[in-house]
Amino acid sequence: MHLFSRVAVLSALTCAVALPAQQAATLMVQADKSLHAVSPTLYGLMTEEINYSYDGGLYAEMVRNRAFGRDWSGVKNWYLDNLGDAQATMKLVTDDGPSDALLGSLRVDVTAATSTAPAALRNDGWWGMALKPGTTYAGSFYARGDVGTVTVSLVNNNSGKTVATATVDGVTGDWKQHTFMLKTGDRVEAGSANHLLLSFAKPGSISLQLVSLFPPTYKGRANGNRPDIMAMMAEMHPKFLRMPGGNYLEGDTVDERFDWKATLGPLVDRPTHRSPWNYQSTDGMGLLEFLEWTEDLKIDPVLAVYAGYSLKGTHIGPGASMRPYVDEALEEIEFVTGDASTKWGAVRAKLGHPAPFPLTYVEIGNEDNLDRSGSYEARWPQFAKAIRAKYPNLKLIATAPVKHGPQPDVVDDHYYKRAEEFFSMVDHYDNADRKGPKIFVGEWATREGAPTTNMGAALGDAAWMTGMERNSDLIVMAAYAPLFVNVNPGGMQWESNLIGYDAASSYGSPSFYAQSMFAEALGTDVPTTSITGANKRFFYSVTRDASKLYVKIVNASTEPQLLDVKIDGAAVTGEATLATLHGNSRSETNTIDDPKHIVPVTTKLRAAAATHRTVAPLTVEVLTLPLK
Ligand code: AHR
Repeated sequence: MHLFSRVAVLSALTCAVALPAQQAATLMVQADKSLHAVSPTLYGLMTEEINYSYDGGLYAEMVRNRAFGRDWSGVKNWYLDNLGDAQATMKLVTDDGPSDALLGSLRVDVTAATSTAPAALRNDGWWGMALKPGTTYAGSFYARGDVGTVTVSLVNNNSGKTVATATVDGVTGDWKQHTFMLKTGDRVEAGSANHLLLSFAKPGSISLQLVSLFPPTYKGRANGNRPDIMAMMAEMHPKFLRMPGGNYLEGDTVDERFDWKATLGPLVDRPTHRSPWNYQSTDGMGLLEFLEWTEDLKIDPVLAVYAGYSLKGTHIGPGASMRPYVDEALEEIEFVTGDASTKWGAVRAKLGHPAPFPLTYVEIGNEDNLDRSGSYEARWPQFAKAIRAKYPNLKLIATAPVKHGPQPDVVDDHYYKRAEEFFSMVDHYDNADRKGPKIFVGEWATREGAPTTNMGAALGDAAWMTGMERNSDLIVMAAYAPLFVNVNPGGMQWESNLIGYDAASSYGSPSFYAQSMFAEALGTDVPTTSITGANKRFFYSVTRDASKLYVKIVNASTEPQLLDVKIDGAAVTGEATLATLHGNSRSETNTIDDPKHIVPVTTKLRAAAATHRTVAPLTVEVLTLPLK
């Protein structure tokens, strides 16, 4: 729906529903009586390699299966695309590759080819390759062979026309990386119906590995991220990134954990690994790339270290067998925080980042409450003691309550719920113990709607956020999960995600906008409040800072709610700003084809009108009132 028509509907709704028979709710705000501070780090990000979050998502690589993984059907995503009478075969070779990490390659044997009828190899990308006019794409591959010149082209799927081309000479019998640039013309149509073609104009053989193509990336980083998705995350006003997972940290088996050392340095030195979400990760998004992502968004990493438990139930016993994993965690922390005089700080410096990264929180494991053997009781203390001994200033997060050994600074709680469940538990933390560890709600989401969540989910999310804000003396951080989904068929392993995309574009679910609205109006303090007369699905949170009062309102009912906001202890002055997110039904949503169907509408209004209004049904609002 067009923005203007949405505004019109909203005002019509507001007028139509201001019926005298309505029971008014009264929200009392004692603005000068602070209950507690708002955690300044409350809202952050959590992602992992799921739903093609990095490969085929944030990580901007355009070539799919660049390192030639295979399944029962053969080498995936690569096809012979010979012209005319050209003849070639391709096969995976396991003992001829450019590095110790990439021991194999794809060998193409060309038996017939000419310059007008070349043999060719095609890659269709991640459900297409998104191109824009007048844009340069940076490519490379490792190769050895004797086919002579390799022509690299981007070809439109629908017209069959080449839209950018380059040639690579100098392929010899020795493995070497070759680079090329592909520039599209100014009249090329933007879209993702394109593929990459490597063509060979004479008989011979070529072995290929790590065929790569990057568009311009966020802040121009080599091996970098998609600008549109980075911009969306910035719009969420996050304060941290919990990395690198989730299940992705643990892997299905110990060997499939996020082995951070195998994700460092040149791509040719990264062996790739299987993610627990059933596909191979390129590890192009390695530990340093995660950290640079936090740097680019000006947020802090929350580093999760592998804690000796993997998803299929294997766990490492405590003591000597665990020691290497504890050392790995200590070295990882040194990689993040050590200066160049330390062993791992020097490795980071050599990789181009001499400055250490800030680090406050280290999380030990993931969802260790699911380890039915109870081994976390022994794993946790071994990690916690070693990390505290070397890094006493770090705050440690446990992923399950622990009875023995050092107590965590923070415990990570996860909630995946339906909207009605969240409505009934917004007060979950109201009376929670304040003497124990703080809480990190490290994963949470209302699971309604797929691939991205709908308006009903946004209402559940917003209601839950009001509870988290009210309890943000206890809840120091919270992160929605999962954040990303590639919406193409086969792209989703987990329903209900915040941001959807294909190769060319991305969009936010209504939940995305609810999050952004709340995080933008975080405030610094929670004043004393009370409410009377509200319907059963009406939720609120009030925060303030030195100059503004933020009133967040969720009317998850299908009925309008008349609301009076009475503010004592501070004078409201000037113009108020009202951001409104409204749906006509709980199922209404945004999609890749209708990405702005539900978006916040911002209006300005007099403070008197702002504090005596009808809140439309199925609506999330953030009212910002300037204070004198
Ligand atoms: O967010 C999806 C998964 O949910 C995470 O990987 C895991 O930690 C949780 O079970």
